[in-house]
Amino acid sequence: MTRSTRGGRRSRLGVRDIAAMIQWRGARSDAPGALASAYSIADLRAMARRTVPKPIFDFIDGGAGDEVAVRRNVERFETASLVPRVLRDVSRIDTSTHFLGSAARAPFGFAPVGMTRLAHPDGELAAVRAAARLGVPYVLSTMASSSLEAVAAAAPEADRWFQLYLWKDRAASEALIRRASALGYRALVLTVDVPVAGQRLRDARNGMTLPPSFPLRSVAGLARHPRWLARTLRSEPLGFAALDLKPGGFAEQSNAILDASTTFADLAWMRGMWTGPLVVKGILSAADAAEAVRLGADAVVVSNHGGRQLENVISTWDALGSVRAAVGDRAAVYLDGGVRSGTHIAAALAAGADAVFMGRAYVYGLMAGGEAGALRAGRMLQSGLARTMALLGAATIGDIAADMLHVPARD
Ligand SMILES: Cc1cc2nc3c(=O)[nH]c(=O)nc-3n(C[C@H](O)[C@H](O)[C@H](O)COP(=O)(O)O)c2cc1C
Repeated sequence: MTRSTRGGRRSRLGVRDIAAMIQWRGARSDAPGALASAYSIADLRAMARRTVPKPIFDFIDGGAGDEVAVRRNVERFETASLVPRVLRDVSRIDTSTHFLGSAARAPFGFAPVGMTRLAHPDGELAAVRAAARLGVPYVLSTMASSSLEAVAAAAPEADRWFQLYLWKDRAASEALIRRASALGYRALVLTVDVPVAGQRLRDARNGMTLPPSFPLRSVAGLARHPRWLARTLRSEPLGFAALDLKPGGFAEQSNAILDASTTFADLAWMRGMWTGPLVVKGILSAADAAEAVRLGADAVVVSNHGGRQLENVISTWDALGSVRAAVGDRAAVYLDGGVRSGTHIAAALAAGADAVFMGRAYVYGLMAGGEAGALRAGRMLQSGLARTMALLGAATIGDIAADMLHVPARD
């Protein structure tokens, strides 16, 4: 091999020259093992895909019908662009904020995700610990695979919220609410966008059941994930911790237990029973947002369940503005769906959200590397937000302003 010298002569390139060009230890990172090579949520997603069997990845990654809503949630963030302000002192960036009266180190939380032990045997326990280390809220799902008690014990210091689906059995719902309260879950999140389960075609095609059982044809596929298999076989059997359900398809299980006759009157009933902050998740219309707040909701989450329920549903980005306008400053407005970077968070805040929640982003991390992976996802969002804020000219969350967003006019 040769190299040029200043005089134009070429000399031989030695082994030592080549060795000097190689980063023998890899780029510096505090993430363990392979996670250190993940720099974006898309990288974590790719690692997740390699780590777990296809039916499990598809259950988490997929959505309703043709999945246009899943894609649109992410894509709509890209239609708005950011307008930086310059010559502002951004030598110190402070991403801290408040969620319903409690301090948090960043304006994002962990959305409720059912059955996270599918993603990694440590599931909800790993996720709540990651949220605690990040200093952000964690919402435990009714459909969780770890009990309310185990999650509380895993991270007593975390800002833990509990997400509720109203069951046909009201006494059981009420008992669950009281249990959550006694265990220190600070806020109650009522999810209202699952009157019936959405149709998830990937799950139907994969023959996905909960707890997972695999059709004979996918046994060869399982063998391609020996580490996942060994970890899963060594851990406690999977199941819903708060529910007693027969194994089966997710849609049949949800439809058996969830109450499709739930109305705003039930929200009023819950308001009377729960003294802490009450959040309504799954709001997309301004009228529904206004009614929820009139009945005493302290916050609404503009959410379409990550595109897993109604096909071709409006993206949360598109729904945010009218909900914010309807609610004004009478309640907090959060957004979830498609949040994959710190830039997305900054854009959502500039568009009127008080904070956002991430669903798949942290679950990709869990699949890729348990607690460390979920933490990696959170750190990506937090450091990405801090960098975006510096480049935008916003030293604090309060400095992120509507005029930092350029939304092209529609035809
Ligand atoms: C695998 C999976 C399971 C979910 N389970 C629940 C649940 O039990 N309760 C709930 O309110 N939302 C649930 N969601 C919706 C999330 O809370 C959140 O609205 C959604 O994931 C946000 O979109 P994102 O994944 O693009 O961030 C689930 C989402 C996923 C991906």
